[in-house]
Amino acid sequence: MPPPSGPGQKFSLPGVKHLIAVASGKGGVGKSTVAANLAVALQMAGQRVGLMDADIYGPSVPLMFGLGQVDQTRTPFPIEKFGVKLMSMGFLVDPRQAVIWRGPKVAQAVGSFLAQIPWGDLDFLIIDLPPGTGDAQLTLSQQAPLTGAIIVTTPGEVSLIDARKGVKMFEEVRVPVLGVIENMSHFTSADGQKHAIFGTGGGAKLAAEAGVPFLGELPIDPRVATAGDAGEPVVRKHPESPVSAAYVELARTVVAEMTTRPQANALPTVEL
Ligand SMILES: Nc1ncnc2c1ncn2[C@@H]1O[C@H](COP(=O)(O)OP(=O)(O)OP(=O)(O)O)[C@@H](O)[C@H]1O
Ligand SMILES: [Mg+2]
Repeated sequence: MPPPSGPGQKFSLPGVKHLIAVASGKGGVGKSTVAANLAVALQMAGQRVGLMDADIYGPSVPLMFGLGQVDQTRTPFPIEKFGVKLMSMGFLVDPRQAVIWRGPKVAQAVGSFLAQIPWGDLDFLIIDLPPGTGDAQLTLSQQAPLTGAIIVTTPGEVSLIDARKGVKMFEEVRVPVLGVIENMSHFTSADGQKHAIFGTGGGAKLAAEAGVPFLGELPIDPRVATAGDAGEPVVRKHPESPVSAAYVELARTVVAEMTTRPQANALPTVEL
């Protein structure tokens, strides 16, 4: 399936109200974790939600939802788990097998995830972007009818440098940045003390620089990683944890923010 050609042309997803990319120029800052927990938190808040894993080389969605490669002849896509509709390259290939593709093929795969998967009627389709600001990210940002992007950063300067590039990329393709979320903000030890393991203030600083809302801080909690690895995002597995409360708040902010934005299918589109 050829991607849309020409400036301003986008894939059409008529049933999807809001497409939100979760991104950062930087790797390993928690994009996939934020995307998964935001998707589940939105679902828990009564929204109809899908989660598209746009990381073709390093898909994370199957692991975080306790899934793996499936028999394509028997399993209709998207796969639904915890009430969230999911699509990932990790459903199509063995996770131990490397995907070795050039850029255009990656863009094509992402395009077909968007346009050929019957997502149905959704309030939100969350897109987990791979790290970096290369071809795959650019193509998707230009061709998906994105409502906006959420930029994930950690508090330190090294992550900020790359997260800034992420903000810039969305500005260049005229996708609104909905805000910046700071992940791994601090760790609270058993005695109640807060420890700023990766520094402080980076998220708020980036948001102020970019002139976009600061969406809050997500603390470091080992249960985030263990829950993700065990196939049930922390917001569902440990709803009582402070990090889960932060995710519920993030979902609330995103829903509130969406009431003021045009819906994805109100943007110029091209039928394929
Ligand atoms: N707040 C947190 N507290 C503790 N661990 C976390 C937190 N957020 C993310 N992690 C863990 O950090 C690791 C990296 O997270 P994740 O895979 O979501 O990052 P990413 O930005 O998607 O990475 P990549 O760039 O490779 O796609 C994972 O093991 C995840 O469980
Ligand atoms: Mg990831």
